[in-house]
Amino acid sequence: MVGMGLLFNTAATAATKVLDGQSIFDRNCTVCHAMNPPPKLAPPIVGVISRYHSRFQTKEDGVNHLVAYLKLPRKQNAVEPQAITRFGLMPPSPLSEPELRAVAGWIWDQYDPAMGACGGFRGQGRRGGY
Ligand code: HEC
Repeated sequence: MVGMGLLFNTAATAATKVLDGQSIFDRNCTVCHAMNPPPKLAPPIVGVISRYHSRFQTKEDGVNHLVAYLKLPRKQNAVEPQAITRFGLMPPSPLSEPELRAVAGWIWDQYDPAMGACGGFRGQGRRGGY
């Protein structure tokens, strides 16, 4: 049993190592984005992701929108358009599709409901089944 656990862990580590959303974020996004306030050159991620969680019901929808936005930021697609007024538009990301998906998925998972102070009414759409 111990042997099996080790094997499984090794495989899981290898899989996350290939495209580790957090290290992609650290390398490509932290120049402008802090995780938490105060902001650097862009809105802190915790606030942005709490908006994504209020706007999208499933991780798939949220990640799809995020990836599309990272490829081609446009005011009409922004979940947080006021940020553009304050910080300017984000430049399109040079990352590949799989890298964008990995970093978007990681960001989506950073959401902490306890931090969702600006989120308004929450709770619908997160029941099982999705
Ligand atoms: C050169 C600075 C810069 C870099 C690098 C950068 N961003 Fe941004 N980002 C911004 C700015 C400025 C905004 C706010 C204006 C906007 O939404 O375009 C923003 C907005 C966002 C938003 C909110 C979009 C919305 O729907 O409102 C997300 C999510 C985001 N960035 C993720 C990322 C990720 C992930 C990376 C790394 C792959 C990244 N950013 C790299 C400057 C940057």
